Amino acid sequence: MALTRDTFHDPVLATEILAFLVRKPGIYVDGTLGGGGHSLAMLRALVDAGFFDGSLLIGIDQDDAALREATAKLKGYETRAVLVKGNFADIGRIVARVSSEKGLEPKVAGILLDLGVSSFQIDTADRGFSYMREGPLDMRMDSCAAVTASDIVNTYEERELAKLFYIYGEEPRSRSIARAIVAYRQKNGLVGSTKELADIIRGNAHGGERVIKTLSRVFQALRIEVNAELDVLRRALYDGIDCLDEHGRMAVITYHSLEDRIVKRVFAEKARSDWGPKGVGLREPLAWGSVLSVTRKPLMATPQEIAVNSRARSAKLRVIEKICQGGCSGCR
Ligand SMILES: C[S@@+](CC[C@H](N)C(=O)[O-])C[C@H]1O[C@@H](n2cnc3c(N)ncnc32)[C@H](O)[C@@H]1O
Repeated sequence: MALTRDTFHDPVLATEILAFLVRKPGIYVDGTLGGGGHSLAMLRALVDAGFFDGSLLIGIDQDDAALREATAKLKGYETRAVLVKGNFADIGRIVARVSSEKGLEPKVAGILLDLGVSSFQIDTADRGFSYMREGPLDMRMDSCAAVTASDIVNTYEERELAKLFYIYGEEPRSRSIARAIVAYRQKNGLVGSTKELADIIRGNAHGGERVIKTLSRVFQALRIEVNAELDVLRRALYDGIDCLDEHGRMAVITYHSLEDRIVKRVFAEKARSDWGPKGVGLREPLAWGSVLSVTRKPLMATPQEIAVNSRARSAKLRVIEKICQGGCSGCR
């Protein structure tokens, strides 16, 4: 696929996603629709492969701006694309509902999760995702969600903030930053904006490049907490695997180690067979694993892709395939 620029969001590892996912007609779920870049590429690939008429793409996003952009981008494909506002953690329920409305079996041929936020969300100052743009401390992907970054920064106790920055940001200076935030609150009432928060962090980080890392880590920690990102990811992985048809595949692109660790562990757990207690010497396991790993190691973007899309630099792609429970010889 040609690498073209998209002002809303450039899809990452798109060529690889198409090669791994689009292999037969069926239901495809893009759980992180964003600007619809990957979805459009998948729909075009389904057309090219002659699978379009037997397929349905379900695109999910919790962000209204993303849904508007994707609706415009996927114009012309409405007969085979259903876009849903929702959380990918509810993938099982969404697939069941949409497939029943369409009179289809809720068995999915391919699922894509391209985690995190889009370039558009980061670049829109009002959304409060970026320490480089002054805006409200919001960070909600779903603007109807109850908790904002401001609620966390301005109400969590020092101990809770330090734990949050340490666990979700892996930030070594978590305690001193938490202390500085609470001191700022006591003096000024509230931390009012992304800029105020960034200034507090700058005043408590080491100099040079390390300031940028600390800013990124603290903002990442807040974003994860606001959107419960790691909990919803776990739910989406388990329920997504349950939705897959035999030989259906799930592809997940992660952008930081906390996400990647979860994907790696859940995929490994679902691939493992249960051999019962040690020493029993069974010839067959009590239960076979339900998936096979397609990418033994996570796949990274090529230098060519990174040169045109810097966001691809930290991307890691892992793919699994659902094993055929009928014991087809190709599966084991
Ligand atoms: C990296 S962008 C995806 C970009 C997309 N692949 C494209 O080609 O434009 C991630 C998108 O997923 C959405 N998102 C993140 N977590 C979500 C969740 N739990 N449920 C639904 N949407 C989510 C974000 O709102 C954002 O639009």
